[in-house]
Amino acid sequence: MSVKHKPTANGNRLLKRPYIDELLPDEARFFKTWFENPLRTGAVSPSGRFLARMMARYVDPLIAGPIVELGPGTGPVTQALLQRGVAPDRLILVEYDVAFCRLLQRRFPRCQVVQGDAYDLSHTLAGVLDVEAAAVVSSLPLLNRSPRQRLNLIDQAFELMRADGCFVQFTYGMNSPIPLGSRHFLSQGISAEASPPVWLNLPPARVWIYRHGSALEDKHESSGKKLLGKLRAHRDKMRNDIHIRTHAVLARKKGTRKTD
Ligand SMILES: C[S@@+](CC[C@H](N)C(=O)[O-])C[C@H]1O[C@@H](n2cnc3c(N)ncnc32)[C@H](O)[C@@H]1O
Repeated sequence: MSVKHKPTANGNRLLKRPYIDELLPDEARFFKTWFENPLRTGAVSPSGRFLARMMARYVDPLIAGPIVELGPGTGPVTQALLQRGVAPDRLILVEYDVAFCRLLQRRFPRCQVVQGDAYDLSHTLAGVLDVEAAAVVSSLPLLNRSPRQRLNLIDQAFELMRADGCFVQFTYGMNSPIPLGSRHFLSQGISAEASPPVWLNLPPARVWIYRHGSALEDKHESSGKKLLGKLRAHRDKMRNDIHIRTHAVLARKKGTRKTD
């Protein structure tokens, strides 16, 4: 897989100087970022490991292609993806906050950090991705954005992904953060699945997984094909058994007639 490097906003400077806020524990660093920009940060503390693991669970490390993470913050979901078996050089981390970018680059030196706006994904990742992504994993605070902006984001994400790729998003609410009933959503044939609630996260959260209809059709088609294959194999075995038994009965009959 080849992924081109896109320099971060202030280039290599991001990597060199250890800033004082990098010495803070993640909770304090996160709170400071939230205090400076609550709407953009969207949470007062980083996601807990149970939520991060739930996000990573929906990414299949065996599906080829880069994995794009949106809003990695201090990196708990990144860490869970690595623990799930995703190679670090497959991860592209898109983060707006420059201090978080600097921290991510230090913490995950083999991942590619892109400083930029995830809501302008095709522009932010222009020249970075040269193969289709396997998944897009997002912790962006979507509910702070209009439904139109959220739909636009998921559209851009699906544009970057393989047909069987999925968009994974967490939310603190119980409803889908992407408006499911919208005509746009329905016409795109996107399906949504929700994880069980992660009660052990503070606040409790849930993960939503969105897939393109065509990916589901492929999945159903292949499981249909498997079932048909099994039925055919069973039918052939039964035919063979009947053939052998009929042969045996006929042979026995022939034998008794001769001895008569
Ligand atoms: C709720 S925090 C999640 C952080 C981390 N993934 C976690 O689970 O702890 C949202 C993150 O999205 C980032 N973010 C918000 N708006 C963004 C945007 N437009 N583009 C890229 N990152 C953004 C914030 O800086 C923050 O790091």
